[in-house]
Amino acid sequence: MNAPTQMIARLRSAVPLQLDYGGPTIMNKPSSLTYFERDMASVVHPQTNLLKHLQTGPTIVTHGEGVYVYDDAGDRFLDSGAALWCNSLGYGSERVARVAYEAMQKLTYFQLFRGYSHGPAIDLSERLLQIAPVPMSKVLLQCSGSEANDSAVKIVWYYWHGLGKPERRKIISRQGSYHGSTCVAISLTGNSSYHKSFGLPFDGFIHVDSLNYYRSAKPGETEEQFSQRLADALEATILREGPETVAAFWADPVQGNAGALPPPKGYFEKVQAVLKKYDILFVADEVICGFGRTGSMWGSQTYGLQPDIITCAKQLSAAMLPISAILMNEKVFDVVKNESNKQGAFVHGFTYAGHPVAASVALEVLKIYDEMDIAARVKSLEPVFLQQLDGLTDHPLVGAVSGVGLIGGVEIVKDKETRASFDAGVDIGGRIVENARKNGLILRVASNRIAYSPPLIISEDEIVDIGTRTRAALDDTLAEVRAL
Ligand SMILES: Cc1ncc(COP(=O)(O)O)c(C=O)c1O
Repeated sequence: MNAPTQMIARLRSAVPLQLDYGGPTIMNKPSSLTYFERDMASVVHPQTNLLKHLQTGPTIVTHGEGVYVYDDAGDRFLDSGAALWCNSLGYGSERVARVAYEAMQKLTYFQLFRGYSHGPAIDLSERLLQIAPVPMSKVLLQCSGSEANDSAVKIVWYYWHGLGKPERRKIISRQGSYHGSTCVAISLTGNSSYHKSFGLPFDGFIHVDSLNYYRSAKPGETEEQFSQRLADALEATILREGPETVAAFWADPVQGNAGALPPPKGYFEKVQAVLKKYDILFVADEVICGFGRTGSMWGSQTYGLQPDIITCAKQLSAAMLPISAILMNEKVFDVVKNESNKQGAFVHGFTYAGHPVAASVALEVLKIYDEMDIAARVKSLEPVFLQQLDGLTDHPLVGAVSGVGLIGGVEIVKDKETRASFDAGVDIGGRIVENARKNGLILRVASNRIAYSPPLIISEDEIVDIGTRTRAALDDTLAEVRAL
């Protein structure tokens, strides 16, 4: 047995996994092992090297407060990513907990299938339509961002079937995007590392060029010219594939997975003109941009998007309970409605979608956003935040910075002049993340960029603290790589 397997065998024999079936209650015997050990014996972690994890073990997060989380050693970390772009309101809301408690007492669960409904789903859908960035007609509630995108693909296909054009099936998205982990949502995702060993993406999911101006612009090309080149390339792709076979274009207004990358100037204006020309549906994935993150309620408002369909999740409920939504305009709903009549029903649904407790929580979170005027708050913090990013540009490891609202990205380079990146073996991202942790900061590196998305309740002082701790982490990392 190799070392990890041995460790697991040891833990398995030590952990009292058998259940007591003697009495009316079934419970685990108390374990003398720590959570650290029990995690390695029992938990599979998403987006994790599972073999390495058996050697390094987990970081056990015990609780949070404001923008900080604590581990089981009592160490405190400023979470500059709001735990996967989720914790807009930070941690521990008694107000929302009370709403969940009351909702659970009133209607633990009921489905929305076959015409059943309940107040929380109606109230939340109505509120989403009121605050939508463009006129929207109906809302389909789901449980996660992946489910929302997956279901939206089905809606797009259903729409084209309804119009008698089932050959309109191909979906175009962009390199650098992330749209979720279901088989279809990951097929939309423009990152081959998510496809390897799964035999994905499915056929008919096409990924056009990355939007990274710093990395991909030609010498002397302005941002507007770069955007025009991307729009021209999109049009060439549509013509190559055959416009009559293209169903929809998918875009996240700011690309989280590309390292919190805002679009280049003029990009969406030029791209939308192409979509209009070929009558292609536009789906905006607002899973990370929705609800104030970009300094407007929606990324679509910040960048002038006119989507037919919007998907959203995460900050919708400040991630206090899982819930997501698809908003569709009347053009789409009208066809979907008639097609469902033709087929006898809209045969799609997830048991937990529109869960009354989750919907009640989301509604309360939206009320809190209203009271805080969340988008205006983010807009007012944007200059302080961008100033912190700008302050890092003199660092030898920093090539460029960009950001919007409370989203920021920092390009990591080995050489500022040539813009060369470090070899993969150096694991520069892993080093920066680890050194940030040593400096009390949780940060994320994606696509060779530090990607910030702090809780929206963050204060100016805490934003400055992110800048200070990042610099310390970069200094420590530079010393390390110079010593290699
Ligand atoms: C833009 C975007 N879309 C979709 C998703 C998938 O959401 P979920 O993890 O809730 O399925 C994510 C997750 O990070 C995302 O960033």
